[in-house]
Amino acid sequence: MSDAAQHAPAAAASPVFRTVAEGDLTLDDHEALAAMLARTFDSYDHWYAGARSWAGMQPELRVVARHGDVVVAHAGLRRQFVTVGETDLLVTAVGMVAVSPAAQGTGLGGELLRQVDAALERLGSRFGLLETGEAVQGFYRRAGWLPLHAVTGHYTAFSADGAGVLVSQDEGWLIREVGATAAEWPAGDIRWNGQMV
Ligand SMILES: CC(C)(COP(=O)(O)OP(=O)(O)OC[C@H]1O[C@@H](n2cnc3c(N)ncnc32)[C@H](O)[C@@H]1OP(=O)(O)O)[C@@H](O)C(=O)NCCC(=O)NCCS
Repeated sequence: MSDAAQHAPAAAASPVFRTVAEGDLTLDDHEALAAMLARTFDSYDHWYAGARSWAGMQPELRVVARHGDVVVAHAGLRRQFVTVGETDLLVTAVGMVAVSPAAQGTGLGGELLRQVDAALERLGSRFGLLETGEAVQGFYRRAGWLPLHAVTGHYTAFSADGAGVLVSQDEGWLIREVGATAAEWPAGDIRWNGQMV
């Protein structure tokens, strides 16, 4: 190895992605994830205290990218039944999608969503579902997520003290076709009957 290569900064290496089941995470993993999520969602940092690496529903599967030991990108997935109109539907909720502030805008988020697609296939529900603000919708649409129009979603908001508050959200619902097409998505409002990831 050349002298220059030996002294190349570790940060120059590409992050390594892993998709890991929740039950395989160690306490150290939860702490590293919580620290990264608190950095990225800084107005929610009181949720990601210590080893609490989730805010609403705890995921069942995570996509995690690391530079060495440092978590630089993350997404959480969990299969859940939701009621859409009159239909009970198994979806995979996707949330806590985050790229560390210092690494944003470098393509890592795009790669994260490609890894999320593979995780959605692995979990086998027919649709991915998420909710996001107007400012980030373009990021998901570029990666193939489809907006639902004129749909209100009702869910229980997470709160640090455990209180459940019903929230009705009129905008920002997106689906990902996994084993079905958007034409098969039922008509009507979404009732989560609980928290989102
Ligand atoms: C949203 C986020 C995950 C994007 O990650 P990123 O690494 O900055 O995104 P990338 O650099 O990989 O961008 C991928 C593509 O999406 C586009 N994009 C990124 N952010 C976007 C945004 N807010 N709106 C529209 N397009 C966006 C990029 O231009 C790029 O497009 P291209 O492939 O045509 O070049 C990251 O900015 C983040 O963690 N933000 C704070 C947390 C957050 O808002 N998470 C989403 C919660 S629902």
